[in-house]
Amino acid sequence: MSSFDRASVIREVLVPLAARGLILRRPRMVRRLARGDADRRAISRLEQLRTERGPEPLLLSVAGRRLAVVLDPDHARDVLARTPDPFTPATTEKRSALGRFEPHGVLISRRANRPLRRELNTAALDSGHAHHRLSTALNEAVDSTAVDLSRAGELDWTTFNARFQALARVLVLGPGAAADTQLTDLLATLRADANWAYASPLRRRKRRRLLARIGSYAGAPEDSLLSHLLSLSAAGDPDAHALEQVPHWLFAFDAAAIASYTALALLALRPDDRAQALEESDPTLPYLRACVLETLRLWPTTPALLRDATTDTELGETPIPKQTTLLIYPPLFHRDPRLEPDPDLFRPRRWLADGQVQDRPDTPVPLIPFSDKDARCPAQELVLAVTSRLLSGVLENAELLSPQMGSYEALVPGRPLPATLDHQALRFRVSASTPQATIRS
Ligand code: HEM
Repeated sequence: MSSFDRASVIREVLVPLAARGLILRRPRMVRRLARGDADRRAISRLEQLRTERGPEPLLLSVAGRRLAVVLDPDHARDVLARTPDPFTPATTEKRSALGRFEPHGVLISRRANRPLRRELNTAALDSGHAHHRLSTALNEAVDSTAVDLSRAGELDWTTFNARFQALARVLVLGPGAAADTQLTDLLATLRADANWAYASPLRRRKRRRLLARIGSYAGAPEDSLLSHLLSLSAAGDPDAHALEQVPHWLFAFDAAAIASYTALALLALRPDDRAQALEESDPTLPYLRACVLETLRLWPTTPALLRDATTDTELGETPIPKQTTLLIYPPLFHRDPRLEPDPDLFRPRRWLADGQVQDRPDTPVPLIPFSDKDARCPAQELVLAVTSRLLSGVLENAELLSPQMGSYEALVPGRPLPATLDHQALRFRVSASTPQATIRS
């Protein structure tokens, strides 16, 4: 690879990825990157290199580490299929970053403990089921947040996110945690450190405080994801570190907040999709689930899927030495011109077959906002259930969702959607349709 190409990949792909903050979004940086549509430039550069050099992974050395950037859709599928061995999700970078606040979290667990923790996560989050077994309690919290949001009058990101974070605390820890903003703040401090990985100090006291605070909700009588987790027999195994799986859940709800808010903006500008969503009679709300998936396709909240090679291996025809980090950049595949119809347009239907949501639609390129195979997000169904119900509640209860133009111009129907979006710039005027708002039963 020429030094010019190497420099361009670092400048246009790697630096913007790291700059936005992989663990906690940096708002000002997100704004700057969106202004220059950084992801569009990254996609174009990788497409150009694929055309010129072929589909084999790009190998480069960055700061003393070997990196392989995956360009071929089948190679991306192969890397995900060969997770966790020989491609572990517990990469050196992730272990250093997430280790700040969840050293025993499943995503950064090595071979010996990963299966136990993975099983605990999938069981606690009811992975693979359209509705979580606690859906009655969870839906109640979602519905009351939806009613609350539809009465907000003015809705900006700060207001929306504060209410969504309260919802996340209720879902994860129970109603007693609704007002515990200190817990979210404590986690945010640790996450901000994690953005800097090795370069930030280890804050053991803060980490212990976080776990103690999470643990303080363990005895609450109400149903929550935490209560369900602790009721599972695997949670009793000391190697599972059950409580330590929970910080990841709390922080991962950020992605669900961003996806819901962005989907709301897209729907606000698209009366046909809104009408289709409001007409749904299927209680799993497939159309709204597809809207959230399509939003995440367009703007994946995990823009880098990373793996480390645990042994010398190969990808396609390229030898991959042990300890190489593999980078799958989902926007490259999600915006691939081979994806029909037009990958730059909002088309929720691409996720539906016979009216039902497809986890893995049959497309020439992988659509992987929740990853796939062994490290696939165990909360995918839970996230889709919560976000679709929230959107449905807001759409049903708010008569008018009038997006303020400016930041929205980029989102109008029919125009290619930008690859980078600053969701924080979106604002709505919302007026509740009736004084006594109703909710879907
Ligand atoms: C829109 C919302 C979300 C998106 C798009 C998302 C996406 C992802 C992705 C892409 C991965 C895999 C990373 C990889 O392959 O390296 C992942 C892993 C994971 N996610 Fe999510 N996530 C979301 C929300 C959540 C929530 C709310 C929870 C918990 C309640 C959660 C729990 C997890 C866990 C525990 C893992 C690690 C899985 C493992 O290593 O086996 N996620 N998520």
